[in-house]
Amino acid sequence: MSVVSLPRQHPETDRPLAEQRELHPELNKAHVRFIGVGKTYGELQALHSIDLAIARGEVFGIIGRSGAGKSSLIRTINRLEQPSRGRVLIDQVDIGDFNEDRLVELRRRIGMIFQHFNLMSAKTVWQNVELPLKVAGVPKEDRRRKVRELLDLVGLADKHHAYPAQLSGGQKQRVGIARALVHDPEILLCDEATSALDPETTQSILGLLKAINQRLGLTIILITHEMAVIREICDRVVVLEHGRIVEQGPVWEVFGNPQHEVSKTLLAPLQHDLPQELRDRLHSSPATAEAAVVLRLSFTGSSQEEPDLAALFAALGGHVRLLQGGVERIQGHALGQLLLAVSASALDAERLRQRAGQWAQQVEVLGYVV
Ligand SMILES: Nc1ncnc2c1ncn2[C@@H]1O[C@H](COP(=O)(O)OP(=O)(O)OP(=O)(O)O)[C@@H](O)[C@H]1O
Ligand SMILES: [Mg+2]
Repeated sequence: MSVVSLPRQHPETDRPLAEQRELHPELNKAHVRFIGVGKTYGELQALHSIDLAIARGEVFGIIGRSGAGKSSLIRTINRLEQPSRGRVLIDQVDIGDFNEDRLVELRRRIGMIFQHFNLMSAKTVWQNVELPLKVAGVPKEDRRRKVRELLDLVGLADKHHAYPAQLSGGQKQRVGIARALVHDPEILLCDEATSALDPETTQSILGLLKAINQRLGLTIILITHEMAVIREICDRVVVLEHGRIVEQGPVWEVFGNPQHEVSKTLLAPLQHDLPQELRDRLHSSPATAEAAVVLRLSFTGSSQEEPDLAALFAALGGHVRLLQGGVERIQGHALGQLLLAVSASALDAERLRQRAGQWAQQVEVLGYVV
């Protein structure tokens, strides 16, 4: 999967397009591109000059606090919202001045799924999926083939007679996904598509989205409040705050070493904090000669290698106890933390910190325990 890495600054915003492309040839490949996009609702400025490029075939995540502007941004892609400033390009084409006909055609190329599924309660599963094809004037035989194919894809072939009220949340979202795919879109927008689902059902919907991304090559742009969703399926992620981009990058990089306060806060639930019981026992200076130094080692994924524990322990000397921790892999990078208590070592806390620093990207001395 290709990833467009953009320079952190975007001085090109107001330059002509041709000139921008010469400056950043990778932008030619961008599937969706925001250039200086702003959005105001009356007095309220919901988006400020957003510059962002999303590559074809990418699964791209958008996170941020409630009210940060995530939905406003994603809805400019299919012109459910009209930007107040700037431009949105799809495949290098500015969609800003599309007339009604071209908008209809654009929206067929862009599927969308929602938190509350938006199904028609008086229609069956089959009819819900078929409806947009009917509206588009697709002949009956073609409709039948398409609906059957999509219900197979989302695993609902045996439910085609059911009404939405007879379906579970996960099944309703599968209908939503099938309906979003009827016109073979190139882009799928997901606005909190798994927020109403339990964790297990979320997993199955994410698996389906990933399969669609890989089998059909769709670009998927998704908003979520669940960081585990980003970790599970996204290639890159952007963090919005008060209508501005505050951080963006590959998921492993942002999750392994978040820079902005908002990113840190959003990602905090994924971090293992120091347990209260340990915090209570922690002293800022060694109470006795036998006190153990407590180190927090962070692996931010910038090294492709897994931590070498034998080498680490040998370098620290003395007794090394594992208090808490572990690593997980995101996009092939090892991320995580280890809390270690080191006692009976010939080294003082600062020397231990330096030694450990050869094996972890960040090391902190948290204190001492007896
Ligand atoms: N149609 C509208 N009219 C007026 N204000 C709006 C409208 N839509 C959004 N806003 C405001 O714009 C800001 C951004 O809203 P938006 O829905 O994009 O946020 P969000 O990040 O999607 O939030 P959430 O996580 O709660 O869905 C908010 O302050 C919101 O109240
Ligand atoms: Mg929203």
